[in-house]
This record gives sequence, structure tokens and C-alpha cells, in this order.
Amino acid sequence: MSPPLPGDPVSPEASRRSFLKGIGTSAVAAAASRVEAVASELAQANAEKVHGPGAVPVTLRINGKEVVLHLEPRVTLLDALRNYSNHTGAKEVCDRGTCGACTVLLDDIPIYSCMKLAIDSQGRGITTVEGIAQSGRLSSLQQSFVDADALMCGYCTPGFVMSLTALLKRNPKPSLEEIGEACEGNLCRCGTYPRVMAAAQRAAGIQPAERVEIIQSDEYAALAKRTHAAG
Ligand code: FES
Ligand code: FES
Repeated sequence: MSPPLPGDPVSPEASRRSFLKGIGTSAVAAAASRVEAVASELAQANAEKVHGPGAVPVTLRINGKEVVLHLEPRVTLLDALRNYSNHTGAKEVCDRGTCGACTVLLDDIPIYSCMKLAIDSQGRGITTVEGIAQSGRLSSLQQSFVDADALMCGYCTPGFVMSLTALLKRNPKPSLEEIGEACEGNLCRCGTYPRVMAAAQRAAGIQPAERVEIIQSDEYAALAKRTHAAG
């Protein structure tokens, strides 16, 4: 069959065939470009230096000071702080990102240090609870925790202090709701939440309202009950 000339009527069959052929060509071209993209990503990944599994030098900026540690790449920031650099303020409780006892600030953002690799924390500013007291004087928030007697076991307390330090830095006059939200990632199993709230309000220069404390007591008593039931 001779090829159609310009101006010839195009049969429905011929136009369907050329349409399908066109799709086939585009699909092959798209697949080829995807293969090229994957190949270039692989080449880039292979060119990057692989760390470990043995110890490698890791430079951390902790409370404004650079510290060089020799750590296996699998070491978490929490372990690096507690077991390799003598910063024991951040506590290990759950070690799985649920309790907040290990909270530190990474560039002023609260994070669970048990969920972050030390090697990935390089080049960032790490602040622990040891770093917020200045020249031996507690920060106003730390002092407020003491004044409001906002701790029982004290083990969860550094995490609360760090979460609230970050809050007060970005919002010096937070509402009670904002204080509660800032502590959402921190668990106190003995239910000292009302006093934690009061401590944060004191540090912000807000008179804690007794009425609010009673309401919070009820809420947190219920939360504590659920937590104990789950445990
Ligand atoms: S120890 Fe990190 S969240 Fe509990
Ligand atoms: S003060 Fe630590 S669990 Fe309540």
C-alpha cells in the first residue's frame, strides 16, 4: 500500500495506528529519560563518601563550644551527649521518640535527641539544659521551675525546660494554650503539669491563675491515669 499523500483522506484505522505509535514513542522516550535520571542519582550516591561502620570524627557544637568526638555513625545525638561528651542533662527514658526526656535544641528548635544521629547534627547549634544557665546562674525559666516546685522525679524536667526555653525565645508572652502546645511532646508520668505550666507563666511574667491550675489538674490527672493504664 502506498503511503498517504498530503490532502488524502485519513482512514479511522490509519489515524488510530499513528496515534498508538506516537504514544509508544513518547513512552519509550520518557522511560529512557527516567533510566538516565536514576543512573545519575546512583552515580552521585556512589561518589559520596560512605562513613563507618567504625568510628569516625564527628564535630558537634554543643552549647557554643566545638567538640570533636570519635563515634560510629550509628550513635545517636543523645548517646553522644551523655556517653561521649559528659552532657548528662538530656535524659534517656523511652529511647524511641515518645517521652521527650531527651529534648535538646537544634538551632533553637526542640528535638528528641534519641531520634537524631550525632553525625547528622554536625554544623548545627546544639543546646542542652547545661547550656542555658549563664555564669552559674539559672535561667529565669529554670529558676521558675524551682520556685514553682515544678518537678517530682525531675528526670523528665530537662526536657520540659528545653521545650519551654524554645517557646519563650520565640514567644516571650505565650498563652496557657501555647505553653501546653509547647509541652505536647513531653510526658510527666507523675502529673506535675499544672506546676510546669505555672513555672512557664512565671518565667513569662504572667501571674499563674489558680483557677487554670485546678482545671489543668483535672485534665492531667485523667491523662496520667490513661498513661499508667497503658503502661
Ligand atoms: S528518650 Fe527520647 S523521646 Fe524518650
Ligand atoms: S516530674 Fe518527672 S515524671 Fe513527673
